Amino acid sequence: MKIIGTGSAIPSLSVTNDMLSVFLDTSDQWIRTRTGIVERRIISDENLKDLAVEAAKKALEEANMDGSQLDYIICSNVVNYYVTPSLSCLISGEINAACPCVDLNAACSGFVYGLDMAQAYQLAGKAKNILVICAEEPTRMCSWKDRNTAVLFGDGAAAVVVTEGDDFKASYITAKYRPEILYYQRALEDCPFVTYQQRGVPMYMNGKEVFKMAVNASIEGIERILKETGHTADQVDHYILHQANMRIIETIRNQLHQPVEKFPHNIERLGNTSSATIPILLDELNKGGKLKQGDTILLSGFGAGFTAGTCLFTWTMN
Ligand code: UT7
Repeated sequence: MKIIGTGSAIPSLSVTNDMLSVFLDTSDQWIRTRTGIVERRIISDENLKDLAVEAAKKALEEANMDGSQLDYIICSNVVNYYVTPSLSCLISGEINAACPCVDLNAACSGFVYGLDMAQAYQLAGKAKNILVICAEEPTRMCSWKDRNTAVLFGDGAAAVVVTEGDDFKASYITAKYRPEILYYQRALEDCPFVTYQQRGVPMYMNGKEVFKMAVNASIEGIERILKETGHTADQVDHYILHQANMRIIETIRNQLHQPVEKFPHNIERLGNTSSATIPILLDELNKGGKLKQGDTILLSGFGAGFTAGTCLFTWTMN
């Protein structure tokens, strides 16, 4: 499998830490030092589906492909306006696609899960050209009265088009049963026969526990993938990690004894956009001319579940 196009789209509204401290008991200083976030983009006038369609169109354009040539759309998404139909189906209608579509919910690990799934479909001979897209609006999952979660998130979408090739060397995805450390419960319709009516619970996160799980899962995945592909940590040119907290990225970097330049980040500008962080960053690096042909790239994501995913590939676009 290889990537032949990338694209991303972010909302226009930028919300700074100072804007949050007007209605939350927080401060720019706390958010900057504890997370690395300075501002985030939040959906206001836009809607998530339109951002997703914009990201998909950009990726298709770079791949020099029309939506009708896609064999599959895999969309990583936790929440959007609809529970059904799937977001991938809504996207397909606007990019001229006529292929099967599926949404996947692996929380913030969704991009790596999506790539892993895409490669499996290719290897099974069931699809060649696949759109892997992440579109997330976590700002609609947290309570805006809860400083523990609301300061961390932003919205955004990003996509890649993949086709057959030899660039992807290995991927490793995991899930461990830890629902209590990070969850969001949707509201369900009342039913006369049910004994428990579910009104919905805003996102809850045990930050410290998630932090530890994130570092451990990411290190485990990275070490495993390096071993499997016969690479040393030094041979990786770019470590593109899920943008959840600058301190998580730094802890992982220190454990791998790697220089800061190898760990690009945009969390300071965009916050945590769930599964969209990695493909948005990948697109920024691609469009910014930061990726050279032959570079070795490692992706590592982690999130609710607790899920994690790591993969390694060679960059051959340009
Ligand atoms: O993508 C999904 C995966 N999510 C993650 O990976 C998040 C992982 N966890 C984290 O990034 C960090 O744990 C947080 C940024 C969420 C929290 O940082 P922390 O260093 O673990 O802080 P804490 O929760 O231990 O809180 C320290 C203090 C507490 O006050 P006391 O009890 O020491 O008086 C909190 O009440 O900071 C307080 N606090 C805040 N203060 C100002 C918590 N949130 C805020 C806030 N502003 N927004």
